[in-house]
Amino acid sequence: MQVLVTGGAGYIGSHTLVCLLDQGYEVVVYDNLINASAEALSRVEKLTGKTIDFVQGDVRDTDSLDDLFATRSIDMVIHFAALKAVGESAQCPLEYYQNNVHGSLCLLEAMAKAGVNNFVYSSSATVYGEANPSPYVETMNLGSPSSPYGAGKVMVERILLDKARANPNFRAVSLRYFNPIGAHPSGDIGEDPTGIPNNLLPFITQVAVGKRDKLRVFGGEYPTSDGTCVRDYLHVMDLAEGHVAAIDWLATQPSFRGVEAFNLGTGNGISVLEIIASFEAATTVKIAYQTVEPRAGDLPAFWANAEKASNVLNWQAKRSLAEMMEDAWRWQSKNPNGYS
Ligand code: NAD
Ligand code: UFG
Repeated sequence: MQVLVTGGAGYIGSHTLVCLLDQGYEVVVYDNLINASAEALSRVEKLTGKTIDFVQGDVRDTDSLDDLFATRSIDMVIHFAALKAVGESAQCPLEYYQNNVHGSLCLLEAMAKAGVNNFVYSSSATVYGEANPSPYVETMNLGSPSSPYGAGKVMVERILLDKARANPNFRAVSLRYFNPIGAHPSGDIGEDPTGIPNNLLPFITQVAVGKRDKLRVFGGEYPTSDGTCVRDYLHVMDLAEGHVAAIDWLATQPSFRGVEAFNLGTGNGISVLEIIASFEAATTVKIAYQTVEPRAGDLPAFWANAEKASNVLNWQAKRSLAEMMEDAWRWQSKNPNGYS
């Protein structure tokens, strides 16, 4: 079976490629490399001993997509390609809607032309918004996320529902990720953000490796056990396996039609200070930090109810917080400058 992986050179995409290739799936990667390096793909090839069919292109380039579908026998699409900095999306909302919503529409149109009906979408816990209490359950109404990034994820989920209503052959899975961290246990692939990291773990590992002075902990007076924000952190390899579970599920449910959403998280809420303590314990590296003002748009606490993914996809996050820290650190210490 041939799977098109848009954004496959990125953080979650590259880890998912390892799992797909190990399971015997053939992959075609389509990525414009705006936030990734082709080196990630070379490393995946080395790790798996398989070759990757890579096409550099943009999901908004409809001619290139039409050509891609016409020259391959693609059965399923996993759509990672997107811009993903929540804060940045408030500064340049049009760019985010252009890339993430319009890009998804272009891809869905190309799939429709080519008669490809199986779609796995990278959604996010942000779709629940602040009105819903944790743990988040898939039956909750989607909220109104404050950022254009989150709003775009809600829009694409809605587009998928409408598409499924109009096309009785369409089959889609929306995977709502919580907070992926860590890296492949080899330390050969991992998260390589350009510029100053927005996310917590890459910032911590860059402090640990000496590239940044200290971590700024955003907010210390939230209504949580220690005053810092709480999130549901999961190992990126668990998340990658969640994609294989979704693809396997679509492949083994030929009568399924429509859209199903699944939370991919551990079900545990962890605070920022607990993350720092857990990194220090797993690596014996001390992290200098300072508590500063809260970051605009951050919710105090959210975590997943991941029972549906367990019951339906037979998927559970298995790896411990200590493994997440050890693997993130192995990647960063082996590759202080990422892929460059
Ligand atoms: P990433 O930036 O590492 O990967 C995204 C990839 O898409 C990159 O390789 C980038 O070059 C590519 N890309 C971006 N725009 C493109 C376009 N127009 N055409 C072709 N390629 C394009 O990000 P990631 O962390 O791997 O995230 C993957 C997906 O998961 C995104 O959709 C993101 O919104 C979603 N997500 C991520 C998180 C997280 O915490 N990392 C959480 C929830 C959801
Ligand atoms: N944080 C800090 N200092 C930093 C970076 C982050 O204290 O330098 C804190 C944040 O305030 C937050 C927590 O660490 O409380 C996690 O922040 P991240 O930026 O790592 O993650 P977010 O929860 O803000 O968002 C991430 C992804 C989104 C995704 C969401 C889903 O960036 O794309 O998880 O749960 F939608």
